[in-house]
Amino acid sequence: MAHPSSTSGHERIETNNFLMIVLILLVIAVGGLVEIVPLFFQRSTTQPVPGLRPYDALQLVGRDVYVREGCYNCHSQMIRPLHAETLRYGHYSTAGEFVYDRPFQWGSKRTGPDLHRVGGKYSDEWHRLHLAGPRDLVPESNMPAYPWLERAAIDPAGVPSRLRALQRLGVPYTEAEINAAADAVKGKTEMDAVVAYLQSLGTHVK
Ligand code: HEC
Repeated sequence: MAHPSSTSGHERIETNNFLMIVLILLVIAVGGLVEIVPLFFQRSTTQPVPGLRPYDALQLVGRDVYVREGCYNCHSQMIRPLHAETLRYGHYSTAGEFVYDRPFQWGSKRTGPDLHRVGGKYSDEWHRLHLAGPRDLVPESNMPAYPWLERAAIDPAGVPSRLRALQRLGVPYTEAEINAAADAVKGKTEMDAVVAYLQSLGTHVK
């Protein structure tokens, strides 16, 4: 007679690749769902923190420029709850600050500093000069220059539909805000928009 364990369920699983794979996937799926699903229903991750406002039209355009230019490749927007981080950047980021961010710009690479609380840190003029030529202000900077933003006019026609799309996803824009969106960006440049966006970051929450 064979060793007792040879007929056990364990041996059947461990000697059957396919069964092993299926069962591993099942265990990971259950473990994942238990961790992920509650996040869709928790207040702290689905409700805006008090004082959070959706981006206005100009800030939203600036955010799109930020995504287009790939600023997130060098800048995170996620301050971790560690002493060194909060000393340098300010209060750590909380989930409720990002509920209107679709998609969020947390990033994972910090060639440059975290930007989540950069709003209000510098003047608008500082940002303009810095974006047009980072080394004019920070000689050792390896950030690329974005001089064309100053010359790129925003096309107002496409802006209301961007607010509309976010409204469908649950961002509480009013009809009045959507109707006023085109006028709000008329005559503005992409530089104006990026600076407005940067100045809004992390400022809604005290
Ligand atoms: C190749 C990496 C890289 C890219 C891409 C990049 N940056 Fe930077 N950024 C840096 C570095 C490095 C610094 C720190 C030196 C300096 O201030 O220039 C910095 C600094 C900054 C600062 C000042 C932050 C502070 O607290 O002092 C702002 C604001 C900023 N970047 C915005 C942007 C924006 C907006 C974009 C996209 C249009 C962008 N960056 C793209 C690397 C990058």
